[in-house]
Amino acid sequence: MPKFYLTTPIYYVNARPHLGHTYTTIVADTIARYKRMRGYDVLFLTGTDEHGETVARSARRAGLEPQAFVDDVAAAYQRLWKTLGLDYDRFIRTTEPRHAAAVAKIFQAAKKGGYIYKGKYRGLYCVPCELYVTDPTPEGNCPTCGRPPERVEEENLFFKLSAFEQKLLAHYEKHPEFIQPESRRNEVISFVRGGLRDLSITRTRFSWGIPVPNEEGHVFYVWFDALTNYLTAVGYGATGPAASEFERLWPADLQLIGKEIVRQHCVYWPAFLLAAKLPLPKTIYAHGWWMMEQEKMSKSRGNIVRAEPLERVVGIDALRYFLLREMVFGQDATFGYDALVTRTNSDLANDYGNLVSRVLTMVERYFKGQVPYPSSGADRTAADQEVAEVAEKAITAFQQCFDSYDFSRGLEAVWSLVGAVNKYLVETEPWVLAEDEAKRARLATVLWTAVEGLRIATALLHPVMPTVTERVRLQLGLEAELGSSRLDDLSWGQMPTSARIGTIEPVFPRLEKDAAIEQLRRLEEEMSAPAAPGTQGGAVSAEERTWISIDDFAKVEMRVGEVRAAERVAGANKLLKMMVDVGDEVRQIVAGIAEAYAPEQLVGKKVVIVTNLQPRKIRGVESNGMIVAASVGEQGRPVLATFAEDVPVGARLK
Ligand code: MSP
Repeated sequence: MPKFYLTTPIYYVNARPHLGHTYTTIVADTIARYKRMRGYDVLFLTGTDEHGETVARSARRAGLEPQAFVDDVAAAYQRLWKTLGLDYDRFIRTTEPRHAAAVAKIFQAAKKGGYIYKGKYRGLYCVPCELYVTDPTPEGNCPTCGRPPERVEEENLFFKLSAFEQKLLAHYEKHPEFIQPESRRNEVISFVRGGLRDLSITRTRFSWGIPVPNEEGHVFYVWFDALTNYLTAVGYGATGPAASEFERLWPADLQLIGKEIVRQHCVYWPAFLLAAKLPLPKTIYAHGWWMMEQEKMSKSRGNIVRAEPLERVVGIDALRYFLLREMVFGQDATFGYDALVTRTNSDLANDYGNLVSRVLTMVERYFKGQVPYPSSGADRTAADQEVAEVAEKAITAFQQCFDSYDFSRGLEAVWSLVGAVNKYLVETEPWVLAEDEAKRARLATVLWTAVEGLRIATALLHPVMPTVTERVRLQLGLEAELGSSRLDDLSWGQMPTSARIGTIEPVFPRLEKDAAIEQLRRLEEEMSAPAAPGTQGGAVSAEERTWISIDDFAKVEMRVGEVRAAERVAGANKLLKMMVDVGDEVRQIVAGIAEAYAPEQLVGKKVVIVTNLQPRKIRGVESNGMIVAASVGEQGRPVLATFAEDVPVGARLK
């Protein structure tokens, strides 16, 4: 069985997953299922990118050790993928020890090749992007995110990227499939032709990273660290049996990325691999962005949509279908609730779902639930033949499109079949045939043809809608699970005779549009409500700041509180649990201040409490409010806000 090694980017842990991350993972999951149905032995990898200055800062702001912080968010990613049924084979975290070994190994290999040297870096650095800014905007900002970079000077190890200009261009030339789509390939070629500068690959400005062997105080640049994950996950740097896998699985067959990380994946990454004398991945595919009203969805713009509310309202299969159908793979697309609900209703509830129910109900009613077979003498018409032809064409077109990652057109091909079966029923009117006993053979042919069309459409749709298609498969009375059947064997005419259909139940109930949109909005708002401190949700770093109006500020209720009691939280050396009188009640509040304050120092102190934050559990302990503190110095030492003169408990701060 040929292997197919497929990867997603590993996601940063300084933010919780949103629809953008979910999209790439859904695409990967779909490809993995599709390739399995094409007979490949698939390995689907995803994971989290956990090092770097931004992560360290976010952890500090959350009052957690970086490791505890990244553990939390990595777990949130894994939980979400599980909830959504995204069936990855491996999940890599860059804080795993095996990964440090792999990074050290590729570094040593590059060093041995003569591609590493020591130099001084002076220049601009964009902290949120983790990128040195060599080509700032005219205003002096980061060209990627538009935010102001910091000026830095440090002694670093450099990677001789400039040595790879010609080798990379030759590879792009020889392997047009290496960077896809074409537009990105052209972009990369012209970037490399413009000349490559050496790349600083170590940092001394922070310690939350993988230490560089024999270079005290240096950690690896996050991208050098992060890109190597694709090797680590398949055994690079390992010893024993894990290592032997590497030969079989590397190079990756397909690496999915978003278009903003093309340079790292299509220039740096192949150069690192060439330096270490490792084969290059076969294809890197950069897809476009989901936009919200012309802007990229991102935390800093505050225009994020998350998958969880979408999944709850329309279901995971409809969400997957929408994302794959609506976005032309490689281009940007606009996300909208209206479009999501409209498409779910028209394509899934009306066209496909209804068709399944109608056809099976007729099989139930006219043939006691047994799929009829057209008897040899039964009259056939051109209409039957037409459906068969459309089905055969759909099978071929679907596979051609999915082989070239053109999901949207692949799904259109399936809908041509769904449309043809619907039209066939309108023309042949089986409900009229059923009234005439003499037309029973014809009725059998018509229903068999419709069921056969549905069987084929359902098998093709399986990689995109794995849950619903399995339910339809059972309703059609088919024995073999769709996931273990082969698309290569799919052809017209294989619907088993006398299959007994299962219980008919609607697979896509119609959504009431306004109510569904309203519910989507409400759930999204609930999800993005501010979280209690000491947890990742409360950590908004300075670089992600957006302006708020006075009305927004007025929503935050802050009151004078007096600490009545305080104690440490067992097993969390940063956390204190306090009972705080806020005027009309005594609240339990958990805060990450234990390293700066002893419990007894706090009792009797007047402090500032945010009193209308959603209650939240921090390390299993309920926290009902947030204590306000300044975050001081590199380590973010908390210093509690208090008052210049005595104030009554419960007074509101405005
Ligand atoms: N950690 C790096 C990747 C390192 S890979 C060695 C990173 N992480 S990220 O959390 O920012 O994730 C970026 C990826 O998430 C994009 O490349 C894309 O796959 C996905 N998306 C994030 N926002 C997106 C949209 N708005 N639309 C579509 N996909 C997007 O970059």
